[in-house]
Amino acid sequence: MATEIEKQPEASVELSKVAVSDTHGEDSPYFAGWRAYDEDPYDEIANPSGVIQMGLAENQVSFDLLEKYLDQHSEESSWEKGMSSFRENALFQDYHGLLSFRTAMASFMEQIRGGRAKFDPSRVVITAGATAANELLTFILADPGDALLVPTPYYPGFDRDLRWRTGVKIFPIHCDSSNNFQITPQALEDAYKKAQSENVRVRGVLITNPSNPLGATIQRSVLEEILNFIMRKNIHLISDEIYSGSVFSSEEFVSIAEILEDRKYKNSAERVHIVYSLSKDLGLPGFRVGTIYSYNDKVVTTARRMSSFTLISSQTQHLLASMLSDKEFTENYIKTNRDRLKKRYDMIIEGLRSSGIECLKGNAGLFCWMNLSSLLENPTRDGELALWDSVLHEIKLNISPGSSCHCSEPGWFRVCFANMSEKTLEVALKRIHNFMDKRMEEKY
Ligand SMILES: Cc1ncc(COP(=O)(O)O)c(C=O)c1O
Repeated sequence: MATEIEKQPEASVELSKVAVSDTHGEDSPYFAGWRAYDEDPYDEIANPSGVIQMGLAENQVSFDLLEKYLDQHSEESSWEKGMSSFRENALFQDYHGLLSFRTAMASFMEQIRGGRAKFDPSRVVITAGATAANELLTFILADPGDALLVPTPYYPGFDRDLRWRTGVKIFPIHCDSSNNFQITPQALEDAYKKAQSENVRVRGVLITNPSNPLGATIQRSVLEEILNFIMRKNIHLISDEIYSGSVFSSEEFVSIAEILEDRKYKNSAERVHIVYSLSKDLGLPGFRVGTIYSYNDKVVTTARRMSSFTLISSQTQHLLASMLSDKEFTENYIKTNRDRLKKRYDMIIEGLRSSGIECLKGNAGLFCWMNLSSLLENPTRDGELALWDSVLHEIKLNISPGSSCHCSEPGWFRVCFANMSEKTLEVALKRIHNFMDKRMEEKY
């Protein structure tokens, strides 16, 4: 932006409706918090009083394992002795992707589900991350003006990914703390009816399992209810399982793929589409590696065609195909990563509890769902944002307010714990402790 361009406000050139629409969702405090961090980032030595970023669901706890693997297998990132030549890779742009990569992805997706579900490489469509996968599926399943039902609280990026370029609407399925934010048949029905009352056609339900921001898996019985619901209404189900390898124990996670397999792919399978990416489980958001796995042949074919817009570079596919097909590496990685995330989770939950703060019981993910409702001066969205502002400016922690995730109950916050060192997490917990002490003193 450094080049100075003369602006002519009175004769400004118009842009498209999509370009000027505000459905990108970036006006949310979720993104404002990121900017506050960028302006004053914490650094143990250079800026110890800076903002600690706890609003970014990144996984940095197992980088050493990836780095060690790459050090020991340097031939896989070089061309001379690698599986394929530089020229072959430089020219490769087939939207099917490398078969070796799709096969390795399918096998990794099976492994993180404890081998309880099978994935066929010919159904794996590659996309530039889950962001592209979710948007692409929305384009395929719904027309502009149609709706997807999404349980709240949900990942704020969905406001952009599902709505902005597609023109599709989101109708919230409201969940609350009365039943630990579980999705109920009544809440599904209410969301559907709300869309109907506004003459909006519902095309599907999108769930995140394990959930972001709750950090909890969805129970089998609830998944069964959702499947029955989409059958009754003749609509689709997108299951975003981007955190499935970050469940602390694979036994605690039921993928929609497992249920379909148990049902021998009868009735509902063609309506189900799974989204996955390596951004969270492998901590590689910068590599932009995602997939759509659909049980519907037409969706697979269309998604593959559309994936031309959002392919993964052949170099990245080549590198990851080797890494993900190394069973010894993946087994050790998945186990160690789970153990480390669980340790971090225990550390933050314990630290918060000792400051008098409770969180929703979690079993997955890179964050916890923290309840600060007792600190609200007003039990409203504004009251929650006032508290968020104090946390950001008084103790310089960027956490995400529940309202940015469309949570209907004020006072909940998502707190990320895997994008920093243990030492930084200790500093953050100390700041929270001091904040709570001060608030208690002010109260009594
Ligand atoms: C539920 C969910 N879906 C999708 C994404 C986007 O993932 P990716 O980096 O693979 O595009 C995120 C990232 O935070 C997420 O939490």
